[in-house]
Amino acid sequence: MKVATDIDSAGRASASPPLPVLGQGGRDAGGAPVTVPPCSAIEMCDVWVRYGKSAPALQQVCLNVRQGERHAIVGPSGSGKSTLLKVLKGLVPTEHGTVATLGTPVNGKRAHRQLRARIGYIPQNLGLVSSATVLQNALMGCLHRVGEIRSWLGLFPEAEYRAAHEALEATGISHLSDRLAHQLSGGERRRLAISRALVQRPEILLADEFLSELDDVTAEQVLRGLDKAHRELGMTVLMVEHDLQVARTFCDRVTVLREGCKVCEVNGSEIDDTRLRDLFRGVAAA
Ligand SMILES: Nc1ncnc2c1ncn2[C@@H]1O[C@H](COP(=O)(O)OP(=O)(O)OP(=O)(O)O)[C@@H](O)[C@H]1O
Ligand SMILES: [Mg+2]
Repeated sequence: MKVATDIDSAGRASASPPLPVLGQGGRDAGGAPVTVPPCSAIEMCDVWVRYGKSAPALQQVCLNVRQGERHAIVGPSGSGKSTLLKVLKGLVPTEHGTVATLGTPVNGKRAHRQLRARIGYIPQNLGLVSSATVLQNALMGCLHRVGEIRSWLGLFPEAEYRAAHEALEATGISHLSDRLAHQLSGGERRRLAISRALVQRPEILLADEFLSELDDVTAEQVLRGLDKAHRELGMTVLMVEHDLQVARTFCDRVTVLREGCKVCEVNGSEIDDTRLRDLFRGVAAA
């Protein structure tokens, strides 16, 4: 059984220390700032997932993501990255273990309904409505605020239209507002899925390879948009990312999965590309 560890840039393993974050203005009796551990946005403990009778897609996975943290999941194809996000969204049941998002267990339909609006999800296949326009797809991000009947009738408040246009602007596809989603290129579809998530303004964003198919310039533009939303909303971001450099530079923490197991978790700022690539490939520390 593989055991997850923290690994620093020199390859030294250690227990996982929480990142120190200063509390909201707290001071001790001597006037020194008090360190307050922030709340967890995501807590997974000893999670196992199996599809049918096949080998487990996830085994013994533990993950703790603080509120406001940016966390990347990396790993080879088939290592369980998408499965991990689906578990958090309540789309795939666990065989064993506990999962909570925003302090609520993810195991029942009721919790799932409560959490739906607060957790944005960009699936690997994007989940767009092909026969709807770009603007209509972006507006789907605000369904939980507007209600189903008003949205069926297209009665979105002016502020929601503005939010949708701003999100399409931020991802560079506002000129395609009237185009049907199925008429978009792969990269444009990806940018639309990101726009929809920005309109939702979720507390947690789960994004599965949301930058793939984007050229470097567009990927940078989209990351800037996400960075802005992250700062403005204090959003927690958990993203599956195949570009290791983006994973370690954009995110505070990086978790490496291999064959369904979490093999390590590192600080993005304390690891270089070569070491992260070795961890990804399963090359043992020298
Ligand atoms: N619906 C399913 N039914 C059966 N097996 C599945 C299903 N979904 C995923 N799997 C299997 O579970 C394992 C993990 O899949 P998952 O999609 O989580 O991997 P991944 O790390 O996201 O891969 P990729 O980088 O290729 O997207 C794989 O072996 C995959 O074949
Ligand atoms: Mg995947």
